[in-house]
Amino acid sequence: MTADRRVVCAGLLAVALCAPGCSSSTPPPAPPKALALWGDLKPVVSVKELMRDMIDPASDNIFDAVKIVSTRQGTVDRVPKTDEDWSKIRIGAVTIVEGVYLLKIPRPFTPDGDQNNSTGPDATELSPAQIKAKLEADPVLWNAKIEALRNVGLEVLEIVKKRKVDELWDAGGNLDQACEACHIEYWYPGDKAVLLDRRIQERYEQSLGEKAGRGRRP
Ligand code: HEC
Repeated sequence: MTADRRVVCAGLLAVALCAPGCSSSTPPPAPPKALALWGDLKPVVSVKELMRDMIDPASDNIFDAVKIVSTRQGTVDRVPKTDEDWSKIRIGAVTIVEGVYLLKIPRPFTPDGDQNNSTGPDATELSPAQIKAKLEADPVLWNAKIEALRNVGLEVLEIVKKRKVDELWDAGGNLDQACEACHIEYWYPGDKAVLLDRRIQERYEQSLGEKAGRGRRP
């Protein structure tokens, strides 16, 4: 039973016990506690600038942590080794888990006058007004995208604690997905159609392959 249900049941029981004729002595339920912050939160930059100057550089600390480098001798995996390498990843993850909550503070999406690439035949982006309207129509979705990115940041923090190099590769992929899942929804939703097309095409090709039998594969 959830805590709320328990409160309701306890309330009903109290009413049943004292009714009729006695005035209810049960105190009214306490109002839900407001989320206590230590002070006001005021935005300084737009979402676009927050991305450019905080979220994006922080994510690079994670994306660049592991990579395959081609050399004359072949390819080598570059992975974190020193304390400094690991603290760079931790800085990225902390900046993301904390910084992404700044997207909950209402702020302009772009600097003054910047309409994104939202007009003309080659428009690929929504205008700041369109993004705002989308967010306000469904703030739960916006917050879900924020939490999804935060979860990847938390995952990276765990990896850093245990220094699990192997898991950094997957984490990079998850990070990329969390960024793109929000961008495709709010920034360039036109690309959704492209993505969907690609998926349909892939499925179609897959079905052809299956019909022709497994032997077709090289
Ligand atoms: C909750 C949604 C959300 C998440 C999560 C998110 N972004 Fe963004 N991002 C946006 C929006 C919205 C814009 C477009 C703002 C505009 O131009 O109006 C944007 C724009 C950007 C830009 C363009 C900045 C510029 O100067 O043009 C970059 C770069 C970027 N994001 C990187 C990232 C990276 C990297 C991640 C993941 C680590 C990420 N974003 C996660 C919402 C999000």
